[in-house]
Amino acid sequence: MNIIEIRARKASDKPLTMVTCYDYWSARLLASTSIDMILVGDSAAMVMHGYKDTVPATVNLLATHVSAVRKGAPDKFLIADLPFLSYRGDLNTTVAAVHELMRQGANAVKLEAYDGNHEAIVHLVQSGVPVMGHIGLTPQFVNQFGGFRVQGREREQQQKILADARGLEAAGCFAVVLECIPQTLAREVTAAVSIPTIGIGAGVECDGQVLVLQDLLGVSEFKPRFVRRYLDGGDLIKDAIERFCQDVRTRRFPSVEEGYE
Ligand code: KIV
Repeated sequence: MNIIEIRARKASDKPLTMVTCYDYWSARLLASTSIDMILVGDSAAMVMHGYKDTVPATVNLLATHVSAVRKGAPDKFLIADLPFLSYRGDLNTTVAAVHELMRQGANAVKLEAYDGNHEAIVHLVQSGVPVMGHIGLTPQFVNQFGGFRVQGREREQQQKILADARGLEAAGCFAVVLECIPQTLAREVTAAVSIPTIGIGAGVECDGQVLVLQDLLGVSEFKPRFVRRYLDGGDLIKDAIERFCQDVRTRRFPSVEEGYE
């Protein structure tokens, strides 16, 4: 998958698929699936490092995860999140952050919101960097929003989200994530822009869907209504570890065949 194929999917009826990934071993698993895109999200701060939100993520932290994921999935289209405030200073600082993420193997970057980002997006796109937008519930705004809440319930907010999607498209974004907005609004945004919309908690009419891998696999505690668990991974893993403990304690592990003469 490349940026041309991603954009072309807008006109097709085959929705795009994307999951987050932060490490080498799960990237290797994803590499052997048909997943279209991998997102090294700043949700790594929460999922991998136990923070309560994405605000503490840094460029160095994301770069470390990008490097590991790229080694595990050498051929997948990999998008890296620009962490909180890393693209809100001067253009040189933004470029340095993007450069580091791409040096570690990202094909594209994602940033949150539209206001104040137009110039940076245009500059990055003109410099050869594919940029994905992210609007609706933008987690880096958690302190502004007063929590993780569905956005775009009021008409005024809906107009703003629609205008932001058009702004991101005009600035040159190749796709936009719509997070936690009403399904009707997501449908309206999807019809209004020529770039693919990737939904998370935004209904089935987006041009694609993204989930956090650990939510999909059932190894996280997080279970909002938009998450569908495709595996009870947590229970399966705990069961495997308990069986190992039992085998060790009863001297059924290791067997003679699992040792050396
Ligand atoms: O960081 C992340 O996981 C994300 C997805 C929720 C889209 O931005």
